Amino acid sequence: MRPRSLKLRAPRSSREWARYHEIRKRCLFEKYNGKGTPHYFEYDPWHPDEGNPANHPLVFLANGRVIGTIRIDIKPDGRAVFRLVAIDDALQGRGLGSVMLARAEEFAREHGAETICLNAVSDAYRFYVRHGYEPVRWAGCTGNPTEIPVVKHLAEPAMQPIALPVAVQAAMQLVA
Ligand SMILES: CC(C)(COP(=O)(O)OP(=O)(O)OC[C@H]1O[C@@H](n2cnc3c(N)ncnc32)[C@H](O)[C@@H]1OP(=O)(O)O)[C@@H](O)C(=O)NCCC(=O)NCCS
Repeated sequence: MRPRSLKLRAPRSSREWARYHEIRKRCLFEKYNGKGTPHYFEYDPWHPDEGNPANHPLVFLANGRVIGTIRIDIKPDGRAVFRLVAIDDALQGRGLGSVMLARAEEFAREHGAETICLNAVSDAYRFYVRHGYEPVRWAGCTGNPTEIPVVKHLAEPAMQPIALPVAVQAAMQLVA
């Protein structure tokens, strides 16, 4: 099967919203903040930040199926903060997170952002460095010592569309 589509957009149905919360809870909260971890706290799908109109909860879809999540918070000072970046476990490490990150940067740029800020879990730190992020403490960053605040200044948009890496094309075959 050839890849048909990879899309980053707002959830459009109760099923997509359920996947948004389920992926965040399972792939991030239960892994890094679950019971028995030093920084335990409960995932709250009704957290007030989710309803702030400047914050954009987004799902990443491969061939129409939700396989990843991110929330992009647009700040009035030219920054965008990426929250709870996750690709569903079974599809990690195949290049899909890199595509989602590039699409998220595009979304942030289109909403006026020049700089991206996020708090990287230490497992994902190298992933962000590889994509141009640098360790910098930013206004409002985490106080959690197990996370690393990082920043990227966005360059001008690329003139040419970028071809999907072979690994991503192979991963798409796993997504019905
Ligand atoms: C971090 C994450 C979004 C990257 O997406 P991905 O599709 O796995 O990434 P890609 O395949 O494009 O890139 C692979 C890179 O991610 C890293 N990676 C792979 N699996 C990972 C995992 N389970 N957790 C963290 N990083 C992972 C790899 O080490 C690789 O980095 P490297 O080439 O420098 O070694 C994804 O792995 C994930 O959701 N991890 C769990 C949740 C998480 O840690 N989110 C980040 C919160 S800041």
